[in-house]
Amino acid sequence: MTRTVNEELLEAAKKVLEANDRGGWTVPAADLYPHQWLWDSCFIAIGLRHLDVERAQTELTSLLRGQWSNGMLPNIVFAKGREYRRDHEIWRSYVSPYAPHDVPTTGITQPPLLAEAVFQIGQKLKLPERRSWYRQMYPHLLRFHEWLYNDRNPHKEGLIILIHPYESGLDSTPPWLSELRKHSMPWWVRFIERVHLDKLINKVRRDTRNVSAGQRMSNIEAMAYWAATLRLRRKAYNSEAILSRSLFAMEDLAFNCILIRANALLKEISAAIKKELPDQLQANMQRTEEALEQLWDDTTGQYYSRSFVSHKLIEESTIATLLPLYAGTIDDDRAKRLLELLKSSKWFGAPWPVPSVPLNSPYFDQFRYWQGPSWINTNWLIIDGLKRNGFDDEARELKDRTIELVAKSGMYEYFDPLHGQPAGAANFSWTAALTIDLLKN
Ligand code: GLC
Repeated sequence: MTRTVNEELLEAAKKVLEANDRGGWTVPAADLYPHQWLWDSCFIAIGLRHLDVERAQTELTSLLRGQWSNGMLPNIVFAKGREYRRDHEIWRSYVSPYAPHDVPTTGITQPPLLAEAVFQIGQKLKLPERRSWYRQMYPHLLRFHEWLYNDRNPHKEGLIILIHPYESGLDSTPPWLSELRKHSMPWWVRFIERVHLDKLINKVRRDTRNVSAGQRMSNIEAMAYWAATLRLRRKAYNSEAILSRSLFAMEDLAFNCILIRANALLKEISAAIKKELPDQLQANMQRTEEALEQLWDDTTGQYYSRSFVSHKLIEESTIATLLPLYAGTIDDDRAKRLLELLKSSKWFGAPWPVPSVPLNSPYFDQFRYWQGPSWINTNWLIIDGLKRNGFDDEARELKDRTIELVAKSGMYEYFDPLHGQPAGAANFSWTAALTIDLLKN
C-alpha cells in the first residue's frame, strides 16, 4: 500500500473521532450509540494517544464518572438530557445503593480493557508523567479488578461470571444465544414468537432504525435480552441475589482472556509505581490463569465458555475461541492449534478475516452483528495475541489485511468477511481509533 493511501486513511480516521467527540468522551457512533461505552472508550483511547495523549487520558478519566462505589465500571455511562430518559429508565441505576447519585449508568460491566488502555497511554509518556498517570488510575483499576473477584467469582474458582450478554461485549455470539434459548426465554416472548407478532417490536427498536434489521439481532432475541435486563433491575443489580436464581450466567471465555491480560498489565502498572497488589488479588489472578485451562477441550482442540449452572462447556466456536492468544498464558501446542483454526478456510480463514463465528458454524451469517461479520477490535486483540505467541508473520499479515479492509470499505462497525462489504453503523469510533493504532505501530 502506498504512503498516500495510509495518510488519507489516517485523516479519515481522525475526522471520525472528531465528529464523535462529545467533549472529553466519545460516542461509539452518532445516533445509534449516543452514550459512553466502557470498552469502546478503551479502544478509542488506544488510538487517540497517537494524536493527543491528554485527550486520550480524558477519554479514560471520564469513564470513572460512572464507577460505582463497590468498584464496578458500568458498560455504559449515559449522556444526560431529556431525550435519553428512556435509556436511563430502562436501567434505573439508582435502584442500587452503589451507583453514583448524579450520573445515570447501566448496572452491568463490560470486558476489562481499562488496564490495557492505561498502559498503552503510559507508553507514550515520559517516566515522571507516566508514573503520575499510573498513580492517578491505579486505585480505580484496583477497585474494579477486586470487584470482579469479590462479586463475580462466587465459587472462588477464578473465572469471572457474566450475568448479561451485553457484559461480554459480543452481545449475540452463539454461546449466549444458545443459553438464551435454553434458559432465558420468558413465556410471553415465546408466545409472541409463536404467533408471529415480533414485527411489532420494530416500532420501539432504535437500532433497526439506523441499521438494516438483517444486520442486527432478531426481535425475539432483543426482547429476551430486554427481559433479562429487567430481571437484573428487579434485583437491584445485586450479583449474589441474581446468581442465587439465575440460569442465564456464564464463565465467558473472551472476558476471562481479556482479564488475564489486564491482570498482567495491572501488575506492571503497580510495579512501576512501587505499589504492592493485595495478596488476595494476586492469588485470584493466579487462579484465573490456571482455571482458563479448564475451558480447554482436547477433542476439538479449542477453549469454550462454560455454563455457570451446569458447569459444562458450551461447545460453540466464536471469535472468543482465538482470544486465549491475547491472554498470553497458554502453551505453545495449544497456541499452534488456535493458529491452525485462524488459518483454515473452513474455520476463521475468511477472505476478509477474522469472522466473529467460524465459516462452518450453523450460526454463520455474513452480515449479522456478532454472528459472522469481522470486527476491527477483535482483529486488534488477535494481532496482539499472535505477536505475544511469537507468530510475527501472521500478525503482520492480519494487520495489513485489516488496514486494507478499512481502506476499501470505510470506518464501519463491522464487515462481511466474505466480500469485505461494510455493515452496521458508519463512522464507528473504535474502527477509526484502532486503524490509527495499526497504522502508527
Ligand atoms: C454493541 C456491541 C458492544 C459495543 C456497543 C457500542 O452493543 O456489541 O460491544 O460496546 O455496541 O459500540
